[in-house]
Amino acid sequence: MERTFLMVKPDGVERGLIGQVISRLENKGFRMVAMKMLRISEELAREQYAEHAGKPFFDEMLSFMTSGPVVAMVWEGRGVIQSVRRLMGATDPAQAAPGTIRGDMGTSISRNVVHGSDSPAAAEREIKLFFDSGEILA
Ligand code: TYD
Ligand code: MG
Repeated sequence: MERTFLMVKPDGVERGLIGQVISRLENKGFRMVAMKMLRISEELAREQYAEHAGKPFFDEMLSFMTSGPVVAMVWEGRGVIQSVRRLMGATDPAQAAPGTIRGDMGTSISRNVVHGSDSPAAAEREIKLFFDSGEILA
């Protein structure tokens, strides 16, 4: 069964949006198989977002991602990787369609509430970065 990594970012936790994010995925029929709240280190944030190293927004993003607790999760279901990307909406909440998480709840491109894996390779890499295999309750 396909799995993806989903994170409620510090803005989503701070604003009390954890439950709404989870509800949208549960309503869609996906199953959560792991979850933890943590404050991520700069090192972990650098690894998670390695593909963006050197981009103009990178340093500000690192400081935002480490500014408060996040909720990291693993979700399972058929087609869950692309489906969660569609439920999230476009990166910039101003462009994200109404009805998507970012379209309905995001406030700016950096404060866009959620992160979700964008490919099978990213999902595998990100799940391993945040969870030991024993923490995933299939
Ligand atoms: P990206 O991988 O392009 O988007 P997505 O989260 O939809 O996969 O970018 C990763 C994160 O980097 C994005 O969620 C928020 C941040 N970011 C900015 O702060 N400014 C920007 O201009 C871009 C492109 C991204
Ligand atoms: Mg991305």
